[in-house]
Amino acid sequence: MSDAPSTEPAARARSCLAIILAAGEGTRMRSALPKVLHKIAGRTMLAHVLCTVGEAGAGRVAVVVGPDRQDVAAAATAACPEAAVFQQTERLGTAHAVLAARRAIEAGADDLVVAFADTPLVTAATFARLRAPLAAGAAISVLGFAAADPTGYGRLVLDGERLLAIREERDASEAERAIGLCNAGLMAVRGDIAIALLDAVGNQNSKGEYYLTDAVAIAGGRGERVAVVLAPEAEVAGVNDRVQLAAAEAALQARLRLQVMAEGVTLIAPETVFLAADTRLGRDVVVEPNVCFGPGVRVGTGATIRSFSHLEGAEVGEGATVGPFARLRPGAVLGDGVHIGNFVEVKNSRLAAGVKANHLAYLGDSDVGAGTNVGAGTITCNYDGANKHRTTIGAGAFIGTNTSLVAPVTIGDGAYIGSGSVITADVPSRALAIGRGRQVVKTDWTPPRKG
Ligand code: UD1
Ligand code: CA
Repeated sequence: MSDAPSTEPAARARSCLAIILAAGEGTRMRSALPKVLHKIAGRTMLAHVLCTVGEAGAGRVAVVVGPDRQDVAAAATAACPEAAVFQQTERLGTAHAVLAARRAIEAGADDLVVAFADTPLVTAATFARLRAPLAAGAAISVLGFAAADPTGYGRLVLDGERLLAIREERDASEAERAIGLCNAGLMAVRGDIAIALLDAVGNQNSKGEYYLTDAVAIAGGRGERVAVVLAPEAEVAGVNDRVQLAAAEAALQARLRLQVMAEGVTLIAPETVFLAADTRLGRDVVVEPNVCFGPGVRVGTGATIRSFSHLEGAEVGEGATVGPFARLRPGAVLGDGVHIGNFVEVKNSRLAAGVKANHLAYLGDSDVGAGTNVGAGTITCNYDGANKHRTTIGAGAFIGTNTSLVAPVTIGDGAYIGSGSVITADVPSRALAIGRGRQVVKTDWTPPRKG
């Protein structure tokens, strides 16, 4: 091997600042919740966009929120703690919104990417493709798409290959309105000229707004090159109302299902399985029809999630079986080979390897040791009306059917609880505990007569 220094320096990764516009009012959602905080696949639209730009290499992120939108600002920093939040005090257009983050732009980045928080389906790969022309010297790169119905979108006005301008529908001529190639709204701008271009944008148009799209004609007028990158329409669909929210959900679910199947998961009826954006399913996991995954679920290799189960914030060990009709709530951690059967709810509980709770049980705030059998009808009475208490059960124990475990309570390893017990005191290891009254039998008994 030669130690000679390379003559060509390795291509330096270009730094990237993403600015996410989230100052919209979203009136068409008819909601008390700001539009960008509505969720698809269990994650807010804003968080989706924050995650995607991060994956696409944005080292710095700025989010532009409307006046007094502490809720949106808090959601932004919750999803991306490094995000800088800027307020757009007046809604004066997309260019004005970008300039609300002027300080972030002035701090300097090779690439500036503008994304909309209400356009959540754009992939990281598309953001990366959008940035690529900047590395080759373009001043601006515009994301375009062939619209099935261009109504309402800005049109890409081309001269051959060259993008001359983006014309907003309201300002377009008859001929321009006939153009089917539209602006998706997202744009990448070379960082060194971004401020100069944005500052040159005026508001002489039918809306009296500062249009980001005007930066295209301004750049062209300065002899700069503007590139167009095309994306499928489905990816650039925006969400303005509940119908579009449902459409975005459906599109994202379809994408997530394909992704897990590609990773080696069997979905028997994919269209009936609902995934969260962060659902992690191991290889050879089988998901039966009609299963719903809320956020924060990890399932280990070879586990089976049977029909009509609902999982959220839960971890399922390798080879475990969950359902049918099971509910795993946040903090449910199932070890390898655990069996959770029908009508069993598990919350904030750790079940070690091989635990079986096959029928009709509630395990809340509990720790259950390896191999323990939890009988049908077992309830951890974890709540006394004011506080929650833990139930600890050792390994290899047997909890008879219809047992109430009144927490706080500890059951030792190998203990055996008789069915129908109400257990209010600790049970030592390997002890038998029967917590119920003795059976009373009266022979030759005549029931009381009516009247
Ligand atoms: C914008 C584009 C249009 C494109 C379309 C794609 C402009 C001028 N037009 O139009 O070419 O076809 O998107 O969907 O950019 N926003 C702010 N502050 C503002 C104005 C907007 O934060 O002052 C945010 C909105 O919340 C939204 C995004 O910017 O997320 C786009 O704004 P919107 O008014 O919806 O632009 P369109 O008219 O749809
Ligand atoms: Ca819009």
